[in-house]
Amino acid sequence: MKQTTLRYRALRRIRSLPAETALRVLGIPAISRRLSGAYEAARASHQPRLPQLSQLEMDIVAGLNTNGVHITSLEKLGLPDTDALWRSATEIAAAYALRAANGEFDGEYTVQVGADDMMRHPHIVRWPLNDRILNIVETYLGLPVAYDTLNFFYTVADGRQIAARRWHRDVEDWRMVKVVVYLHDVDMDTGPLEILHRSFSGSDALDGANYPILTQEMLEQRLGRTLEDGDVTTCTGRAGTVIFTDVATHYHRGRPASARDRCALFYNFFSRNPLRPFFCERHVFSREQLSELAAGQAARARHCMLWRSNLPLLARIVPTAPL
Ligand SMILES: [Fe+2]
Repeated sequence: MKQTTLRYRALRRIRSLPAETALRVLGIPAISRRLSGAYEAARASHQPRLPQLSQLEMDIVAGLNTNGVHITSLEKLGLPDTDALWRSATEIAAAYALRAANGEFDGEYTVQVGADDMMRHPHIVRWPLNDRILNIVETYLGLPVAYDTLNFFYTVADGRQIAARRWHRDVEDWRMVKVVVYLHDVDMDTGPLEILHRSFSGSDALDGANYPILTQEMLEQRLGRTLEDGDVTTCTGRAGTVIFTDVATHYHRGRPASARDRCALFYNFFSRNPLRPFFCERHVFSREQLSELAAGQAARARHCMLWRSNLPLLARIVPTAPL
């Protein structure tokens, strides 16, 4: 068993090497400055082509710009196919809750709904490929959108501060948007998403492949004080709450659930030419399944989903790093 774990770790390390090398190259100051200049130039040149937004959509973009977060609901958004999304997603969530109750996930802290389950309900994956969501994300990013599908997470209420329940920043791109949909009421003890509004020494500097990943205690140590009201947005909300948040510019975490398991959809967006494509595609779908999901969709939706095929060759050849 121990040997298997060691072999797995060694393999994982080898598979991460190309991404780590690419990361180091991108971090060379002259290259980093050049990329960041090109990114700002691309945003400036895309500015005149940004879509028109409704008041609600503008409010969401303003929330993202001001606080890195805006909380709304499926009801307020009123997107087509929401009823079908809700029916299928809550049905899957109930099935996973039953499996959890039967002890199937004992020892695991988070379980992801698999591709087979989701391929039977493709409308769950396609739900945000709607012009209104894409317009919001495009306006906030200032660039054409890539849609990196979703993670459908079932989080076990064990109170542990591990993985995404520690304070961290996502590293795929300069700006990113996650659209999170709660499938049941989420209170303080049910694992709400939390967004930090403070920076601290080291919060803008990669430490290896990530920004420093911190427990609550480590974060408070870096801040030099305990967290206070206003430092954090804790996204509690009723079933059907929808959160738009930028997880690249803001430290965030899933507050460890302690009272009840949590089930939510995490839809992932970044720009069409992300800074670190080798850290993207951390979802459950194969490339073939992505093509199947994109088939028959409007051109804009297809381009959003198949963003990888339009990357420059150099960005495409670095394989995705394992999680
Ligand atoms: Fe994250």
